[in-house]
Amino acid sequence: TKTRFLTGITPSGTPHLGNYAGMMRPAIAASRTGDVENFYFLADYHALIKCQDPERVNRSTLEIAASWLAAGLNPEHVTFYRQSDIPEIPELTWFLTCVTGKGVLNRAHAYKAAQDKNAEAGKEGDDGVTAGLFMYPVLMGADILAFNANKVPVGRDQIQHIEMARDMAASFNHLYGEHFVLPEAAVDDNVATLAGLDGRKMSKSYDNTIPLFSTPAQLKKLIGSIVTDSRAPGEPKDVEGSALFQIYQAFATAEETAALRQAYADGIGWGDAKTLLFECIDRELAPLRERYNYLMAHPQEVEAILLKGAEKARTYSGPLLHKLRGAVGLRPLT
Ligand code: TYM
Repeated sequence: TKTRFLTGITPSGTPHLGNYAGMMRPAIAASRTGDVENFYFLADYHALIKCQDPERVNRSTLEIAASWLAAGLNPEHVTFYRQSDIPEIPELTWFLTCVTGKGVLNRAHAYKAAQDKNAEAGKEGDDGVTAGLFMYPVLMGADILAFNANKVPVGRDQIQHIEMARDMAASFNHLYGEHFVLPEAAVDDNVATLAGLDGRKMSKSYDNTIPLFSTPAQLKKLIGSIVTDSRAPGEPKDVEGSALFQIYQAFATAEETAALRQAYADGIGWGDAKTLLFECIDRELAPLRERYNYLMAHPQEVEAILLKGAEKARTYSGPLLHKLRGAVGLRPLT
């Protein structure tokens, strides 16, 4: 049987260059190789954990779907769907909830981060923490196990969640028979974490992102606000720790990157370096932007693709959950 890759992105904001360079672009490249199966989805149930603005969830789902398609995802090669179109996922979430130790979830990064933040602010540990945030890894486990994916391409921050999904699969198999393959994280070391405007990881939560489909004018303006040091033109610059250089590298050819490295040593001015970065990013994104704008103006086309994808996905998750209901002792739905 073919290796099955599965990965998701949470639609709780506008997709940014980090999502694109770190995840979408490599995932789309991988989907073109042909000898693997790919399941890519929009994790809109996950979005509800951090975003309780219905209009924003809705809008972000369309934006992210249109971004994947504009970036070259071919729905013939990828099973491309929206999580909430798959009723088997919340059902499996419950089955997995009942085989997952509460103590395991106490140690999940997202939950611990929320607790640490409260501690810093002098608040009660669980202050403002929903059960949804606590259960995040179980929902993610169900995303993966509902399709028996072997490989899950993710960033380093998500490895722990994949390990938890693996443990849930093993516990379930131990109790009810061999129903699940044990999934593994696939972390690509060549794909660096993209820096944001302030030099930290580009992230919605740091408010330091460059939206993937900014207009050229917005893109130019945002690039202008990337942090640099105060060295004047003519003074040599360091590539080490330079967010500008790091983002350039993610979009430029190897020769162009080598040339900018040399230009840094030769004292290129920050204004000139930013112009080079703008041209490099815009060259790649301009053709995608056109398709993106078309799709955003024709949401019913995006919708039709997602519904077809969900139908395709459910030909797998439907029969699996039917079998699992029987395995745990419930009446099979007819
Ligand atoms: P999310 O939506 O936070 O991130 C989606 C993907 O984008 C990558 N990413 C980055 N890569 C490089 N540089 C950056 N600055 C950057 N910012 C984000 C992330 O590594 C991630 O791969 N819980 C998941 C979604 C999810 C999922 C799943 C993934 C739900 N169920 C099942 C895999 C399998 C999340 O919130 O990703």
